[in-house]
Formats: sequence, structure tokens, C-alpha cells
Amino acid sequence: MLGFQKQSGVGNIKLKNGVLMPELGLGTWKGDEAGLLAQTVKTAIDLGYRHIDCATYYRNQREIGRALKEVAVPRKDLFIVSKIFQNNHRPERVAPALDEILDELQLDYLDLLLMHWPYALSPDMGHMGFSTSDLDPVPIMDTWRAMEILVESGKVRAIGVSNFNKSILQKMLPQCRVVPAVNQVEVHPYNPEHELVAFCEISGIAVTAYCPLGGFRVDVMGDATVQAIAKAHKCTPAQVLLSWLIARGIAAIPKSTSSARLAQNLQMVPLSLDDMQSLGRITTRQRKVDPSRDTPELKWIFHESEAECPLI
Ligand SMILES: NC(=O)c1ccc[n+]([C@@H]2O[C@H](COP(=O)([O-])OP(=O)(O)OC[C@H]3O[C@@H](n4cnc5c(N)ncnc54)[C@H](OP(=O)(O)O)[C@@H]3O)[C@@H](O)[C@H]2O)c1
Repeated sequence: MLGFQKQSGVGNIKLKNGVLMPELGLGTWKGDEAGLLAQTVKTAIDLGYRHIDCATYYRNQREIGRALKEVAVPRKDLFIVSKIFQNNHRPERVAPALDEILDELQLDYLDLLLMHWPYALSPDMGHMGFSTSDLDPVPIMDTWRAMEILVESGKVRAIGVSNFNKSILQKMLPQCRVVPAVNQVEVHPYNPEHELVAFCEISGIAVTAYCPLGGFRVDVMGDATVQAIAKAHKCTPAQVLLSWLIARGIAAIPKSTSSARLAQNLQMVPLSLDDMQSLGRITTRQRKVDPSRDTPELKWIFHESEAECPLI
């Protein structure tokens, strides 16, 4: 039996602890071009978005917080996610990191707090650029146990992880008092994560897809199969990609600064079994995000065969 359930028709995924996560959310990374972010967040909420994906790393939470103060939708109807940056993995830094996030967002609690990456950086690291010498040997479970305590504090309704591969989760789960509610990872047809998604499903971990449209680096919207399905349904490639994720029971957090595209991304299309199978058979493989491009020591995150996770 699944630890989380897809709700029919209500657009939510029920997390293992009963908390409802809207299946379509707004991404906010690099959503601040020309100071547009506050307006984007307000427009998105007006259009019906209730799930906002934030992170300390994005350095724009104050602007998001100001926008959240100005919307008519009550706090209890929003699902606000943020992430602990890698320089805050030492256990004594986890609770203050959450307090800083809440201060920036001007909120009393988060709906979901994620460990952004399964590796730590030295506490004095800034947010941009790091080298091998900045890696900090903090075991993942030390950070996770500090996050588990936060659930009891009432300042977070659920905790989860991001960029965790199957082998890390397999080692981690037997040691958890609180199983991660969510694993946020890159998912689109060029990085479909069939095995990881299946493992999360049987483990009761909901999956959220980041870069669901491939971001700026991966041209999955231009893929011939995606384009052909979009043409047949008279919709856009973005709608095909998002509908494919939602049909797989995966939440998606596309980012857009255009109100027309924000509205479009909320409209799912009913894909047939044939469409789903065609999208599942795409063989091109490409990731937008991979920290091992700059830091080869982090190959173990997305290239499991090359090395084991050094610190659990
Ligand atoms: N956990 C992690 O490590 C991690 C990593 C990366 C991202 N994320 C999260 O995931 C979110 C989404 O990822 P992302 O922003 O990299 O990529 P994305 O959402 O896949 O793609 C965003 C790009 O697609 C365009 N776009 C949006 N809707 C469109 C549509 N209907 N038709 C055509 N183009 C469209 C946007 O341009 P316009 O703005 O001009 O519409 C933007 O250039 C981020 O914002 C962030 O919140 C998390």
C-alpha cells in the first residue's frame, strides 16, 4: 500500500503524515528578473497556485515574504516550501537556519522543509561557488535528526529531502524516526527517474519534479515526441510535460514570470496510455542540474555507479 495517495480531482498529493501538497506549484529560482518576483507570486496566487517553492539559496525569500503578506488567500490555504542550504548542515545550525527562513518569508511555520542537497559545505561558505576544500564532512543523518526535532516544534508541518538518489534513501530510511515526506528531484522525459520514483512510491515518499520543463539548459519542450503529442491535443509542449508528471503522481513546480504561461501551466491535458508510453520511451538523457560538472567529488549524487555516498 502507498504511504501517500493521489487525491482524485482536488489537485493534491496526500503526504505520508496526512498533510496535503498541491500537485502544481510555482518555482522561484531565478524568478526575480527585473524585480518581477513579488508580482509573479501575487499573480500566481490570484490564478490559483497554492504551492510556492522557495530556498535560502535563491536569495529572494524576503521579496516572496512581502508578496505573501499582500495576497488575500489565508496562510492556511497556502503550501510554502523552503530548503536548508548546505552551509547549515551541522546539527546546531539547523534550527537557526529554519528561523532565518521564517524571518525572511515573514511566516510562523513552513508546510515543508527540505534538505536541499545530500552534502554539506563549511559554515562560512557563501551561496555562490565552492571548491572541494569547502565540503564539510557532516553525516546526512546528523542533519536529518536535527530536522526531525523541528517537526515537534510546530515550525514545520513536514520535512523532506532534495536531490537524494535511491541508494542514499535505502541507507537512510532504516535510521529515520520520521521518513522524508518528499524527495524533490529533476524529472522530465530526458531524466525520467523511473526507478527512483518507483522506489519513493513504495517507501511512501512523494516526489516533486523540479525543472519540469527542462529549465533553460535542456530542450525537452522541443523534443519531437513531446511536440507531436502537444499538436494532437492542441496544447503546448509545457502542458504535455506537466500533465505527464501529474499523471505519474508526481508534483511539479514550473517557474514562469509570464502571467499567460503561469495560467497555461495550470491547465492539464488528459494524456492517453499511448501518449504516456511514448513519453516513457524517449531515450535522450540529459540533466539540467549536476554539481559534479564543477565538483567531481560529488559524482556519487547522480552517477551512483561511480562511487558510494561517503557520509550517511
Ligand atoms: N531542489 C533543487 O535542487 C532545485 C533545482 C532547480 C530548480 N528547483 C526549483 O524548481 C523550479 C523550476 O525549475 P526551473 O525554474 O529551473 O525550470 P523550469 O520550470 O523547468 O523551466 C523554466 C523555464 O521555462 C519557461 N516556461 C515556463 N512555462 C512555460 C511555458 N508554458 N511555455 C514555454 N516556456 C515556459 C520559463 O520562462 P518564462 O519565465 O519566460 O515563462 C523558464 O525559462 C525552480 O524555479 C526552483 O523553484 C529546485
